[in-house]
Amino acid sequence: MPDVKVPIITYTGINQQVELHDSDSTLLECSIMNQIPHIHECGGNGLCTTCRIRVMDGHNNLNPRTLKEQEIARVRKWDPSIRLACQCYTKGDVNIQRLVWTNSEVNKLQLETVPEGVAEERAIAILFCDIRGFTKLASENSSFDVAHILNRFYTVLGDPILVNNGIIYQYVGDEIIGLFGVSGGIKYKNCNDAIRAALGMQYAIERLNHIELVDFDVNIKMGIGINFGKAYIGHLGHPKHKQFAVVGDPVNTASRIQSYNKEVNTNILVSDTVLKSLPRETVNIGRTFSNQMAGHDYDTVLHELLGFKDMDIQLELQQSLDVLLRNEEAFASKFYDKVFTKAPKVRALFKNNMASQGRLLTHMLGGIVYSMSRPEHLALGLKLLGQSHVRYGVHQEHYPIVLECLTETIEEELGEMCNPQLLSAWKQALETVTSEMKRYAK
Ligand code: HEM
Ligand code: FES
Repeated sequence: MPDVKVPIITYTGINQQVELHDSDSTLLECSIMNQIPHIHECGGNGLCTTCRIRVMDGHNNLNPRTLKEQEIARVRKWDPSIRLACQCYTKGDVNIQRLVWTNSEVNKLQLETVPEGVAEERAIAILFCDIRGFTKLASENSSFDVAHILNRFYTVLGDPILVNNGIIYQYVGDEIIGLFGVSGGIKYKNCNDAIRAALGMQYAIERLNHIELVDFDVNIKMGIGINFGKAYIGHLGHPKHKQFAVVGDPVNTASRIQSYNKEVNTNILVSDTVLKSLPRETVNIGRTFSNQMAGHDYDTVLHELLGFKDMDIQLELQQSLDVLLRNEEAFASKFYDKVFTKAPKVRALFKNNMASQGRLLTHMLGGIVYSMSRPEHLALGLKLLGQSHVRYGVHQEHYPIVLECLTETIEEELGEMCNPQLLSAWKQALETVTSEMKRYAK
């Protein structure tokens, strides 16, 4: 019998080659088996498109596009070299490049569903955030410092938009604009995401003032306005230079709501439309105002947003993720030390290099926090993870040990930042994750 050649999968970018021994495995499963980070939010179900790859070589060795892939490729206008790794099997060597590298890049994929050349009406939540006190900072520091600080602002204020499934639409001077629900979604969820982003931004600016800008003798403040309504969305402009654009009265109104903060001395104002989109008793509201916005012949009711009424698990987790993963290797090694001390026999289940295993775990924790804003994908992703853990030899009784060690590590790594509410949020999230994994492991 002639020798059957085992297909070799080459990952360009990281220049790694692996052999694919199981012809029933998809290219996504090949990455997972070889501990190559490969985002797969919907757990290989051909829905989220995050596992997309560009096939650089060996295209003819792959199965034709599945029906799910054909539909996705049509809507997103993909050229034939782009495939979903979770839908691809190969009978020979292939050379591939993963196209989505970070959790925050996932949101941008929404823009692919935005039409070219024409505008389409879509109901979205619009958030305008203005940084106050920046002029003083700019006049008292060198241009180099100012550019550095502005970049930090855009990062710390942009993160809460991204981690809540929003899109950063534009930076205009010291203003940042976020959009929620560009590719559709439920009204309540889009407004809730925008509100969580606003509260996350408020927290981020406080941290920036107290930690990073402490030597600059400034107290940066911000004003946020949120509105919800039907806006026109499209890729518009010169035929040779089209740009993503959002236009319409709800956008102008959001900007004016933001400015109104200055007049009434508030930090976050939301329109009545936003508030009415949320279930009753979701948020704490301060003062309420009624004001005729420029260009309107009617009054708009605005509410001062103070916070969520009950603990919002996602907001709590988002606020601590940065701190937790600032040293991913230390986090992972502390965690695995604890597990192997408590359950020494578990060590034998880990066949691969522990450093890359650790990176995968922390990558996964970040992924969980990001994908909580896309719960329909998270559940599917955990199904795959639960099933793969059965193959690794993981038993139900291992889960409480891992949960305990993860919670302890989180508590220690958060240090002074840790408080009972934050720890309880992490415990709840990890319990949800592990119970979902265990459900599919049965
Ligand atoms: C919060 C729950 C958990 C999460 C988020 C998690 C996450 C991960 C991830 C992302 C991988 C990489 C491979 C893949 O994607 O399939 C992995 C592999 C693995 N996990 Fe987990 N895991 C969890 C619970 C557990 C438990 C309870 C055990 C039992 C000791 C365990 C043992 C393993 C082993 C043995 C591997 C394969 C490592 C190798 O092949 O060397 N995990 N885990
Ligand atoms: S589409 Fe492949 S993992 Fe979601």
